[in-house]
Amino acid sequence: MIAFKNVSKTYNGHQIIKQLDLKIHGGELFVMIGPSGCGKTTTMKMINRLIEPSSGTIEINGQDISRQDPVELRRGIGYVIQQIGLFPHMTIGQNVALVPKLKKMDPAAYEKKVDELLDMVGLDPKVYKNRYPAQLSGGQQQRVGVIRALAADPPIILMDEPFSALDPISREQLQDEFVRLQKAIHKTIVFVTHDMDEALKIADRICLMQGGIVVQLGEPADILHRPASDFVTDFIGPKRLKTPIQNTNLPPQPSHDVIQFQPGMS
Ligand SMILES: Nc1ncnc2c1ncn2[C@@H]1O[C@H](COP(=O)(O)OP(=O)(O)O)[C@@H](O)[C@H]1O
Ligand SMILES: [Mg+2]
Repeated sequence: MIAFKNVSKTYNGHQIIKQLDLKIHGGELFVMIGPSGCGKTTTMKMINRLIEPSSGTIEINGQDISRQDPVELRRGIGYVIQQIGLFPHMTIGQNVALVPKLKKMDPAAYEKKVDELLDMVGLDPKVYKNRYPAQLSGGQQQRVGVIRALAADPPIILMDEPFSALDPISREQLQDEFVRLQKAIHKTIVFVTHDMDEALKIADRICLMQGGIVVQLGEPADILHRPASDFVTDFIGPKRLKTPIQNTNLPPQPSHDVIQFQPGMS
């Protein structure tokens, strides 16, 4: 479990993160969302100490991370960003095996793991393991970036807009695969996005931020059905909000994508 306790971050006299209290549960897919500049990346980078808070504490499983060696801390935290940065001169297999190798894990064990992970994201190891990043599409490279973060089996994974550079089709495919993958591996994942459709699709809980504070935290259904403020309503957008049921004696309206059977239809 990751806990932020009264965490603030100030740059040049401006408080970017304001007294943040947050609990991210073990095994959940926690999505942080909000407009550009609201503090998502800053919050995320404080978890692996790429950024230090100005005040407050962050604990992982009850341990204050400011007392831990940052390098040691990061060994237990996978990190995926938009520009995944695969090493161009290394094969896909070498890229994925990089962290397990650095951790001096047993080669026999991680080679098997690399193959399993490639299979899990639909990249046949026999075909792709010995290719170089430039020989893969953007979507395939991003899949490799995701599994590279998983290869050393860290309990926590941070993902900062990992799919946002992809075309809409690759992006949706990867979201689907990612949800399936998480069902199998149950990692604690902190996932940043600015895309509400993505958040609603993948999140166990959504944390909506604005100007360095949390404006609403809840399950996707809570956010959709009980937006906490006009800002939340605007951020969700009218298209995603269900038509309110005016008369509570009537059954709920079917959503627009449900085709009702009518006489004459076959
Ligand atoms: N190193 C820095 N120095 C000064 N201001 C910064 C620095 N890093 C981020 N900021 C500011 O902090 C705010 C939050 O940034 P960030 O966490 O990157 O937002 P987000 O990821 O939500 O788009 C922004 O206003 C940004 O300009
Ligand atoms: Mg950001």
